[in-house]
Amino acid sequence: MKDFLIAPSILSADFARLGDDVANVLAAGADVVHFDVMDNHYVPNLTIGPMVCDALRSYGIQAPIDVHLMVKPVDRIVPDFAKAGASIITFHPEASDHVDRTLGLIKDSGCQAGLVFNPATPLHHLDYVMDKLDVILLMSVNPGFGGQSFIPGTLDKLRQVRQRIEQSGRDIRLEIDGGVKVDNIAAIAEAGADMFVAGSAIFGKPDYKAVIDQMRAELAK
Ligand code: DX5
Ligand code: ZN
Repeated sequence: MKDFLIAPSILSADFARLGDDVANVLAAGADVVHFDVMDNHYVPNLTIGPMVCDALRSYGIQAPIDVHLMVKPVDRIVPDFAKAGASIITFHPEASDHVDRTLGLIKDSGCQAGLVFNPATPLHHLDYVMDKLDVILLMSVNPGFGGQSFIPGTLDKLRQVRQRIEQSGRDIRLEIDGGVKVDNIAAIAEAGADMFVAGSAIFGKPDYKAVIDQMRAELAK
């Protein structure tokens, strides 16, 4: 079977008992912790920063932490997240003045690097940086909030990006974020994604393992 990663978005976790909630979702079979950073400037919401990432590491969370930066500017927060234990750092190209420089900064800090595309962001931002990418993240909702519905046009965009990854011959993860549920994950995988962020679909249910098992069963079809 293809190697699929399930990355619960802790945006929908219980922030009053975050360490336990993250430990529970990992014990339920999640692969990666998706960590949404919002600044009330690039996106209209405000969430968590490097201190919380550091606190999760101190608490004993060892799984990869996938930091999704929805902030502008990008560069000055990158070293802080690297120090705080981030494994992957992704950012939106329109939030950085120098995309190539930001990617270099992330790699030099020892993390994997990725670009994030909003539903209406064109793919030409990939043109000169494929060799620097470990991850490409497609947003299937407009960023800022959990619990929104998957935008169907993203499936075609996923196919285009999958093709570009194949053409590049590089090992680049194709991550999808927004409105991923048990009932659409198979179609999303079929369109080319291999890393699935899901917030409300997992944390909104009492039994995390049941949801993650159902997602894996859909992916195995
Ligand atoms: C939205 C965030 C997502 C969000 C996904 O801006 O980037 O990670 O938490 O939440 P769901 O899975 O509920 O759409
Ligand atoms: Zn996200």
